[in-house]
Amino acid sequence: MKKPAKRIAITGAAGQIAYSLLFRIANGELFGKEQPVILHLVETPQALEALRGVCMELEDGAYPLVEGLRSGSDASELFGDVELALLIGAKPRSPGMERGELLEVNGKLFIEQGKALDQSAHERVQVVVVGNPCNTNCLLALKQAKRLSAKQFSAMTRLDQNRATALLASKARRPVGSVRGVTIWGNHSATQVVDGYQAEIDGKKALEVIGEEAWLQGAFLETVQKRGASILAARGKSSAASAAQALIDHVRALYEPTAEGEWFSMAVYSEGNGYGIDQELVFSFPCRSTGEGSWVLEKISSLHPFIKEKMAISERELQQERQEASCCLS
Ligand code: NAD
Ligand code: LMR
Repeated sequence: MKKPAKRIAITGAAGQIAYSLLFRIANGELFGKEQPVILHLVETPQALEALRGVCMELEDGAYPLVEGLRSGSDASELFGDVELALLIGAKPRSPGMERGELLEVNGKLFIEQGKALDQSAHERVQVVVVGNPCNTNCLLALKQAKRLSAKQFSAMTRLDQNRATALLASKARRPVGSVRGVTIWGNHSATQVVDGYQAEIDGKKALEVIGEEAWLQGAFLETVQKRGASILAARGKSSAASAAQALIDHVRALYEPTAEGEWFSMAVYSEGNGYGIDQELVFSFPCRSTGEGSWVLEKISSLHPFIKEKMAISERELQQERQEASCCLS
């Protein structure tokens, strides 16, 4: 029997990440080839003409799964009844900036969008925040939710997980598919904690395979922490195609039950976390999906002291961002 179409809202729909993403969603890469979709594309009034061009291209793709295409700049209207909201629209940083510096420009936007989603989205909506600084923007959005639960909001650290997975595979000279369990803790920023101690390569602890703890604590961590800035410096624009890939991976991981013994990283509301982290942050943790957007935190009992120390630094940075964002809330 034919499935009813899922409504998906995408903000920043004329931006560069969206341009790498929309045609893949239209082609069934998020929910599979049996799942029709209706796309609700949101942009600023100034970018509506560019969005009109993107819509023409989506139409010209003649995608059988796209049952509807709506576009405009009124988020409250376009969030109506959506089951998935991908909040990409935001200003990206320029070379030399840290992501946290975007809070002043982007923070208010996520408060407005959190309110709009709470009013009009489907009761089972999943909201994924990509626009930076994504952890604190997500906190601002979920704090507006009265009808929705904080557990319906997440922010994307999957790009960091993917970067770290690829880097480990390359160091071990093994295919990417042989690596699992790389874990990202904390903020999607230069303080993010890339935990190679949890990772396995071909079923063996990564440290055992690589044999260089100094690399795991040094070059590995720093390369991933600075990867966004390295791409920005080289391209003159922030990552887009890899961000779109990570977003597809994030959403698929959220909807498909996680296989036994596996987990993925995403930033979620920290209330009730068993890791001693401040309860009022959006912090990246290892998570497991129980299907259709429901998730639980994975309990990792043996954290390396080096990782715990770095987690505390990232936690302090998020507390600082929350403090700065309090002006947006007031
Ligand atoms: P971009 O500048 O190419 O596109 C952003 C789009 O958002 C623009 O078209 C802009 O008009 C639109 N926009 C701005 N305010 C909006 C609003 N209120 N409603 C709807 N649309 C709005 O930027 P991009 O490269 O697509 O990046 C988007 C965001 O994603 C940036 O903040 C960037 O830093 C972030 N990002 C996050 C990750 C991550 O891993 N979490 C990865 C890459 C980029
Ligand atoms: C990234 O990690 O590539 C994105 O967050 C964009 C950026 O500003 O680095």
